[in-house]
Amino acid sequence: MKLSKELKSEVMQVYDTWWHSYLNGDVKTYDSFLDENYRFVGSTDAENYLDRLDTTKFFEATAYQLAGKAQLRNRTVNLEIINELIFITDLADAYFLYDAEWSYYSKFRFTSVIKKSEAGLKFIYQHFSAPDSKAGEGETIGFEKVANENIELRDAIKRRTIDLENKNRELEATMNELKATQAQLIQSEKMASLGELTAGIAHEIQNPLNFVNNFSELNTELLSELEDEIEKGNTAEMKALTDDIKANEQKINHHGKRADAIVKGMLQHSRTSSGVKEPTDINALADEYLRLAYHGLRAKDKSFNATMKTDFDENIGNVNVVPQDTGRVILNLITNAFYAVNEKKKQNKQGYEPTVSVSTKNAGEKIEIRVSDNGNGITQKVVDKIFQPFFTTKPTGEGTGLGLSMSYDIIKSHGGEIKVETKEGEGAEFLILLPVSVKN
Ligand SMILES: Nc1ncnc2c1ncn2[C@@H]1O[C@H](COP(=O)(O)OP(=O)(O)OP(=O)(O)O)[C@@H](O)[C@H]1O
Ligand SMILES: [Mg+2]
Repeated sequence: MKLSKELKSEVMQVYDTWWHSYLNGDVKTYDSFLDENYRFVGSTDAENYLDRLDTTKFFEATAYQLAGKAQLRNRTVNLEIINELIFITDLADAYFLYDAEWSYYSKFRFTSVIKKSEAGLKFIYQHFSAPDSKAGEGETIGFEKVANENIELRDAIKRRTIDLENKNRELEATMNELKATQAQLIQSEKMASLGELTAGIAHEIQNPLNFVNNFSELNTELLSELEDEIEKGNTAEMKALTDDIKANEQKINHHGKRADAIVKGMLQHSRTSSGVKEPTDINALADEYLRLAYHGLRAKDKSFNATMKTDFDENIGNVNVVPQDTGRVILNLITNAFYAVNEKKKQNKQGYEPTVSVSTKNAGEKIEIRVSDNGNGITQKVVDKIFQPFFTTKPTGEGTGLGLSMSYDIIKSHGGEIKVETKEGEGAEFLILLPVSVKN
C-alpha cells in the first residue's frame, strides 16, 4: 500500500470527522470508526487497555466534559504507512473554554493506527498523552517540581501538626478546667451534705432546747409570782407555786439531759476510730456486752427482767476486729433487743417470756453474729429507716436514734454487713457478717 494523494485525503477525512465527533460529543460517529479489536491508551489512570465497547462507554460518560469546550490549534499531523497500516502522529495546542474564555491547556500528542479493510478505514489503536505538567524545560521528568511539591507538602503537614498541637493544648486546658470544676462540685456537694448533717443535728438539739428555754422562762414568771405571794404571806399559794416550779425544773432537767445525750451520741458517732484491729475473741466480747447491757438496764429499772440465751460457736477462734467498736455494735443491738422485749412485756400478754438470744457461727469465709429477740418486731415502714442517723421511735430521753447508724458504719469499715429480719409482733433478728481476713 502506497500513500497516494487519494488515500491521504481519504484518511484525513476520516481522521478529521472522527476528531470532530470526539470534540463535540458525537458518540455514534466516534464509535463508527473504531475497529472491533480497537485498543486505546489514554493519559489518565482509567484509560488503559480498553476495548472498543469500554472505550465508547467511557467516551459516552465523559464526552460532556469536552463537547464544545475544547479546541486544537497549531496542529502538526503526520501520516506514514508501515506494514500496511497507516500511522498518524498528531501534535496540537489544546485550548479549553473556561469562564467564557479560551485558554491554553497544554500540548496534546495523539498517535493513531488505522487499518484499511473491506469495512473501510478503522482505528485499531490510539494513544493519547499530554506532557508531564511537572517536568520543566529540558527535563523529561519533573523531579524538581515533585521535590518542591514534597517540601510544600511537608510544610503543610508541619503547619497542620502545629495546628493540631495547639488544639491539643486547648483541649488539655479545657480538660483541666473541667477537672477543677468537677473537684469544686464535689467539694460543694460535700459542703451541702455537711450542711444537711448540721441542719439535722441543729434540729435534733433545737427541740429539747426549746423546752429548756420555755420552761425556764415560765419559771422566771412563777418566781416573781412567788415573791408577790411571800410578801402577802399567802403560804397556800406559795406551796402551789413552788410545786409548779419544781415540776418545770424536772422538765428542764429532762430535756437538758436529752440534749446532752444527743451531743454525746454525736461525738461518739463522729469520733474517728483510732482503734486498731486485733485478734479478738468474739464469743467473749459478745458475752461481756450482753452482761453490760443487762445490768445497765437493771440499774435504771429494777423491774426489768429477761431471759438471756447464748449459743457460741467454739470454732470461731479469734477474729481480727477493733474490739471497742465491735463491742459497741453488739451492745447497741442487745440494748435495742432488751428495750423491745421490755416494751412487749409492758403489754401484759399472757404467758409472755421476754427473751434475748445472742449467737455466733463460723461460716467459713465469714463469721456470723446474731442478736434476736421476741419483742414486737419492726413494721415495714419503720424498718426502711432504722439505719438512718437520728431515726428513733423511742420517747424523748430514751433514744437518740444513732445506735444502728453508728453500728452500720462500724461494720462497713470492717468490710462486713449488717442485716435485719423481722416479723411484726414476733420479734427481730439482727445479723452481722464479718469477713475473716486474719483468723488466728
Ligand atoms: N430489736 C428491735 N426491735 C424493734 N425495733 C427495733 C429493734 N432494734 C431497733 N429498732 C427500731 O430501730 C430504731 C433505731 O434504732 P437505733 O438503735 O438506731 O436507735 P435507738 O435505739 O432508738 O436510739 P439509740 O440507740 O441512739 O439510743 C429504734 O428506735 C426502733 O424503732
Ligand atoms: Mg439503739
